[in-house]
Amino acid sequence: MVRRNWSAAALAGVLAVSTLAGCGGSDGGDGGSGGNDDGKITLGFSQVGAESGWRTANTKSIQESAAKAGIDLQFSDAQGKQENQITAIRNFITQKVDVIAFSPVVTSGWDAVLQEAKDAGIPVILTDRAVDSQDKSLYKSFIGSDFIVEGQKAGDWLVKEYEGKNEPVNIVELQGTTGSAPALDRQKGFQEKIAGNPNFKIVKSQTGDFKRADGKTVMETFLQSTPDIDVLYAHNDDMGLGAIEAIEAAGKKPGTDIKIITVDAVKDGMTALSQGKINFIVECSPLLGPQLMDLVKKADAGEEIPARVLTEETTFTQEQAKEALPTRQY
Ligand code: AHR
Repeated sequence: MVRRNWSAAALAGVLAVSTLAGCGGSDGGDGGSGGNDDGKITLGFSQVGAESGWRTANTKSIQESAAKAGIDLQFSDAQGKQENQITAIRNFITQKVDVIAFSPVVTSGWDAVLQEAKDAGIPVILTDRAVDSQDKSLYKSFIGSDFIVEGQKAGDWLVKEYEGKNEPVNIVELQGTTGSAPALDRQKGFQEKIAGNPNFKIVKSQTGDFKRADGKTVMETFLQSTPDIDVLYAHNDDMGLGAIEAIEAAGKKPGTDIKIITVDAVKDGMTALSQGKINFIVECSPLLGPQLMDLVKKADAGEEIPARVLTEETTFTQEQAKEALPTRQY
């Protein structure tokens, strides 16, 4: 519940957030209803963008959970740009929202704006992605996956797949957004696991920005420059799905000629896995909304909240995908 009076500056801030949100809008419906005195908690949320199926599911989870919890959500879409997120957070501070949450596009460069939120007495919760700030008092909690573990699961599968075989394995990697926590950590975890076998070689590694179209174009260049690709490791389903199009266009069979590992387990990825076009998917759950709203309520009430809330996740083989698909939520 915002207990403060509205100044001209605050109203300007609301307008800026609404404009920035583009199609985003707020669950409150007007993109500018913060500052109400109706006893509701106001949450300012800055989302990365709409780069993937995962992100769309994550936005839906947050919007639906806020509505269910009776929280007034001020939603801002950063369209993949850190500067837009910083502007949105500053606007939330001007609006005097009760709590700020955001999913940082990249890990670095947040200290100044987080300090401003802290100075304004507004608790901040990181969702989905971490920041590299050394001062942990700048935010109250971080809810999301362990991306290093996700990379390790991908590496473990590959090591097992080639167990007992003594042959070179040429791997190409489609990285997520450069400088983002999932791209850095999924690469790290994977590398750790394959390091013990000199047969594994990452022959190409490039960003596809977590987007399907970029996954396709980067895979096209990989296929042109590197004839003997055995394995593709894509940091998310969308890039893997784009790459599948490139592989098929090159006359190769995805999942057979080139083994494919991806991360997320959204419906489109799971469908490709069940069809044999992907070999293994590491799950990353986007359904963070309900837990986030619990944290928001507690933070607003001044209660202690855990510094780290870890998401529970699994992995899927082709057979497991067939079983899971009919009830898959996203
Ligand atoms: O931060 C989570 C990652 O961001 C998802 O794995 C990816 O699909 C999304 O864009």
